[in-house]
Amino acid sequence: MHGASEVLFDQSLSPAQQRNLERHLGLAVNDRTLLILEIFAQRARSHEGKLQVELARLQYLSTRLVRRWTHLERQTGGIGLRGGPGETQIELDRRMIGEAIKRTKERLAKVKKQRNTQRRQRERRQAFMISLVGYTNAGKSTLFNALVKARAYAADQLFATLDTTTRQLYLGQAQRTVSLSDTVGFIRDLPHGLVEAFEATLQEAADADLLLHVVDASNTNWPEQLQEVQRVLHEIGAQDVPQLLVFNKCDALPQGQEPQSPHDHYEVDGRQLERVFVSAQSGQGLALLREVLAQRARTDETLAFDDGEHDPRDLTGPSTEE
Ligand code: GTP
Repeated sequence: MHGASEVLFDQSLSPAQQRNLERHLGLAVNDRTLLILEIFAQRARSHEGKLQVELARLQYLSTRLVRRWTHLERQTGGIGLRGGPGETQIELDRRMIGEAIKRTKERLAKVKKQRNTQRRQRERRQAFMISLVGYTNAGKSTLFNALVKARAYAADQLFATLDTTTRQLYLGQAQRTVSLSDTVGFIRDLPHGLVEAFEATLQEAADADLLLHVVDASNTNWPEQLQEVQRVLHEIGAQDVPQLLVFNKCDALPQGQEPQSPHDHYEVDGRQLERVFVSAQSGQGLALLREVLAQRARTDETLAFDDGEHDPRDLTGPSTEE
């Protein structure tokens, strides 16, 4: 009736459901998992992120392929030694996908090793690591760009070997440079398999010293979205990483719903989290956010050098090299 060329279901479909629906409708049928994979594919900017999307896609495809083609498999044992064209095609596709999965896993392992080395270097350099997390479309990338813009050039040089989604951010008030990472957006009903495939990227968030949890305050669903992000953070073991709530898009709040104070606390899962209201687009509240970040980075520095250990910057002390 609508002249659709494809039907997209807002939930996961089993390969059998997908196959039967396609047969009945005579149209391509896809599900939520595939759509999320496509979104992730567009969002993946780092080499590692791209490999992870590739792996998740191949794994998704391998189950579909095998089961979608079972009707052809029944031709096995027909004419000739090799069981007929159906089987040959399935075997070929299976082997190709199997090999591609293996290759992608090997490449991922290599990238992971490099990233661990980079992380160790950052740790040695005492970089304070901040990761942006948040529901998809909350404005993480906009905030990321707004925060690093002023120092982007220097960042490119100093962190040239780092993943492109990590930049350095200089906090004048703390006279300290911190590293800021943008992450993949979270989404409701993120299929568990995908969380697993992206574990390495999400691990970046779990390893951070501070999470900037960006919330789209202009979206009436923000409380649910906030909870969903908390759920994913829990799943990746990042529930105890200190969090700062950044309520973004304040410029777009309906009249009468403006925050009473630009800086307060908000309770999430029994924790009182510091909250800052900003607009990444207009720049409103960003100076305050920088101030709060500087405060956090300063506290971290005090803690780092007050733990009874020697100052790692003191080269005369015992070696900190492994
Ligand atoms: P994903 O990539 O989907 O995870 O999204 P994201 O969280 O990185 O959001 P992104 O920065 O791409 O912004 C999403 C949309 O919100 C864009 O259209 C932005 O222009 C818009 N946006 C971001 N910040 C603000 C803001 O402060 N005010 C308003 N009105 N819009 C904003």
